[in-house]
Amino acid sequence: MRLIPIRSCVPGMRLGKPIFNEEGVVLLNRHAELTQNLIGRLHHLGIDYVYIEDPLTEDIQVEDPISEETRRRALSELRTQFRSFMEQGSRPKLSRPVLGKTFGSVMKMIIDDLSEHQETMIMLMNMNVWSQYLYQHSLNVSIYSTMLGMASGYSRDELMTLGIGALLHDIGKTQIDLALLDKPGQLTEEEFAEIKRHPELGFKLLKDEPNIPLIAAHCAFQHHERLDGSGYPRGIKGDDIHEYAKWIAIADSYDAMTSHRPYRRAMLPHQAMEALFSGVGHWYELSKVTVFRDHVALYPLGMTVTLNTGERGVVAAIDPRAPQRPVVRIVETADGEKLSSPYEIDLAEKLTVFIVEVDQ
Ligand SMILES: [Fe+2]
Repeated sequence: MRLIPIRSCVPGMRLGKPIFNEEGVVLLNRHAELTQNLIGRLHHLGIDYVYIEDPLTEDIQVEDPISEETRRRALSELRTQFRSFMEQGSRPKLSRPVLGKTFGSVMKMIIDDLSEHQETMIMLMNMNVWSQYLYQHSLNVSIYSTMLGMASGYSRDELMTLGIGALLHDIGKTQIDLALLDKPGQLTEEEFAEIKRHPELGFKLLKDEPNIPLIAAHCAFQHHERLDGSGYPRGIKGDDIHEYAKWIAIADSYDAMTSHRPYRRAMLPHQAMEALFSGVGHWYELSKVTVFRDHVALYPLGMTVTLNTGERGVVAAIDPRAPQRPVVRIVETADGEKLSSPYEIDLAEKLTVFIVEVDQ
């Protein structure tokens, strides 16, 4: 299968992977044939890329780091719990012993799935509808953070705390007007100040919950803090920021940049990675951004790329030891001739050849 921008889709193409709605329920099945109408609808739902079946790349299989069942369960619990916090609003707080238990069991599923994929580079191309961005984003940030914790040798207990902190890092947004969170265009100063309240609101919601580790509440509190003290809400610096909150900050920024929002298109993985690196030193720690880079697929499997030679091809394999230099299966020559029998170039071996453009 290959990954192509929705704008390059034409009727008759068939989906290589299912597309899920906000609850993790299948919206369109694998093998579904695209029609003009469907393409328009997907575009309207905020889907930028789709996997399609293609005879030249039939053997390229893209596996998700977590199973469909785990995804569905996580999204439906996030939705249920967040909605109940939205309804509760500022009324006297109810204790929710069930909250920690629920997300503890969700995290167990996520950790079990990810431990089977430790060698795979993560790619969470946003193939889902954005109308429920908060839930999808919370799940993605948790997947990235847990993977980073695993790469750092964290114990299972540490992964649970980090993962729960990541799943619930934005729970304070349930106390803020949704229209404001998705507002297209520039926010006024007052509106931005209102949004900046969500870390502290989240901390307050979580800190006394019986089954939520206190550090997870601090993840909500500190995920917008930055190394040099330029973050919010307290402007704390360096070692005063908990290590877990630093991982979550990186995962959060990256996922936000690579997600389609009502007011802008998604950045590609390598562009978002460049942006993260430009924040090294003052916002993020170099060692942490490096671990992140080494575990995220900059050029996702199946993506169509152009090489400096002018040849065009599809990312066919990624070697975790050289993730920035994948194997590219050439499907079009520099003269624009489409090949019926493609050949491959391993960029890890041919060091003078590199990717200059990604289809978008
Ligand atoms: Fe946030």
